[in-house]
Amino acid sequence: MAVAVYPGSFDPVTLGHMDIIERTAKMMDRVIIGVLKNNSKTPLFSVEERVKMLESITAHLSNVEVQSFDGLLVDFVHQKHADVIVRGLRAITDFEYELQMAQTNRVIAPDVDTIFLTTNLKYSYLSSSIVKEIAYYRGDIGEFLHPEVAEQVRRKLNASVQPDAG
Ligand code: COA
Repeated sequence: MAVAVYPGSFDPVTLGHMDIIERTAKMMDRVIIGVLKNNSKTPLFSVEERVKMLESITAHLSNVEVQSFDGLLVDFVHQKHADVIVRGLRAITDFEYELQMAQTNRVIAPDVDTIFLTTNLKYSYLSSSIVKEIAYYRGDIGEFLHPEVAEQVRRKLNASVQPDAG
């Protein structure tokens, strides 16, 4: 049984992430989405909120589950008895960072491999930060997020600081 871990911050999950999740679910017996808890980034959504959103929009994928983790990714992979880590590559600029992570993970856990999927061209420019910035300035985020997630982002931003009118 092939088990994959797809890790990330998912703050919030975008349609680019969803594309990777859906394609991985077709190839693997089981996919565990690992939502990183302790992050150097300051997240807009709590880890619980991120897990909930992911659970809701992946509910149609019977072999996909969502769990949060902190600490080393390879420890999480071992704990889940997973075989591989899956990462999406959006552009050449992702490559260096991803290669560094994959190589480091192989040094600390030689049994853990990373496989890369090229992100759908449609979403190759996308990042969670860009989407949050567009939302902050009241731009249309419907192109980039699942409708449920887009609604959560709008709600969250309405409840927080408004853009400076000046
Ligand atoms: N479509 C759209 N956007 C995508 C994407 C895709 N397919 N793939 C990545 N992105 C974006 C994300 O939205 C995110 O955007 P942001 O920076 O604006 O938030 C960015 O690419 C990268 O984020 P993400 O994929 O969530 O990775 P990360 O860099 O936040 O975290 C981990 C990567 C979780 C794998 C890594 O930090 C980790 O393993 N942490 C655990 C500690 C550890 O083991 N460290 C040693 C590693 S060698």
